[in-house]
Amino acid sequence: MLENIPRVLPDNLSVHLDATKMNIPPVFGWLAATGNISNTELQRTYNCGIGLVLVVEPKNTERVLDGLRLAHNGQLLGTVQSRPANQPQVVINDEHFTANLQRVQRVVQQPKKKVGVLISGTGSNLQALINATRSSTFGSGAEIAVVISNKADVLGLKRAAAANIPTKVISHLNFTKAVDPRATFDEAVTAELEAHGVEIVCLAGFMRILSPGFVRRWKGSLLNIHPSLLPKYPGLNGVRQAIEANPRDSVSGCTVHFVDEGIDTGDIVVQETVPILVNDTEDTLAQRIHQAEHYAFPHALRLLATGAASLKR
Ligand code: GRF
Repeated sequence: MLENIPRVLPDNLSVHLDATKMNIPPVFGWLAATGNISNTELQRTYNCGIGLVLVVEPKNTERVLDGLRLAHNGQLLGTVQSRPANQPQVVINDEHFTANLQRVQRVVQQPKKKVGVLISGTGSNLQALINATRSSTFGSGAEIAVVISNKADVLGLKRAAAANIPTKVISHLNFTKAVDPRATFDEAVTAELEAHGVEIVCLAGFMRILSPGFVRRWKGSLLNIHPSLLPKYPGLNGVRQAIEANPRDSVSGCTVHFVDEGIDTGDIVVQETVPILVNDTEDTLAQRIHQAEHYAFPHALRLLATGAASLKR
C-alpha cells in the first residue's frame, strides 16, 4: 500500500486513505498479531486487501464505482490531495487502521456463527452466502450449518449439496392436518435449525409467511432479503410493483432487514440501490436487483455475525 500507490502519483500529490473503509482480510489481522508487526510495516509489505487502485476524477467517481462496486467489491477508499514538502505520499490515520485491524482480529478469534438458510427455490442468494462464508478474504464471521427448503428438488438444494452443506426438506404440505399448520411447520423448522446449533437464520427466497412464535424465537437473529428499497413495495412482487409504479421511480434496489411480525417491516441492515432504466421490464430490473442482492446479503450477514449490527428494539 505504501510503496506501490506512489508509483502512479507525481511527487507533489499524496493519497489520503480512509482506514475505516478498508476491508482488511482476516489473515492480515492474524499476521500482525502473530508476527508483532507494526502498522507501517504491514502497510509497506502487504496490500492489506487492496487489489487494484484506480485514481479517477471526482466527477467520474460514481460512474466508475457503479461498474465496480457490486461485482468486484469496488469502493471509494480515499482522496488525492496536494502534498506538503516532506510529507508521506500515502497518508493513513493510524488509530483508524489499528481499530480496523483489531476488528478483524476479533473476527478471527471468535468461533464462526452458525447460520441456517431457508429457501424455496433457485437459491442464487444462498450461493452468494456460500461464497462469502467460504471466502478467506471476506471475513464473514459465519458458516452455513444447514440449508432447509420447504420444496423438494429445487436448485438451491443442489447448490448446498455441491458445497457439502447439510440439507433438509421440510414440506409445509405435511402439516396441513395439524391444528395450527403454520405454527407446527415453523416448530419443525426451528427444531431442525437447533439440531444444527444455528444462531443466525437467513431467509433467502423462502416463500412462506412466518408464525409469530418463529419470529419471536429468532428475534434479532433473523434476516430477510427483499427486492425493493423498503419501506417501498413490501410484500409479494416487489419488482413488479416498482415497474408498474406511475410515475416510475428512477432507482430501485434491495433491502436486507431483521424480520419482525409485520410484512417486510423490520429494522433495515443493508440497502443497495440500482437504477431503473427507461426500457426496463420486470425481468431486466429483477436481474439487476439480484446482482445487488448478492452483494447486500453477505455484507448484512457479516455485520450481524461480527456484532457490527444488532436489532435496536
Ligand atoms: C430474491 O429476489 C429475494 O429478494 C426474494 O426471493 C428471491 C430469491 O431468489 N425474497 P434466489 O432464490 O435467491 O435466486
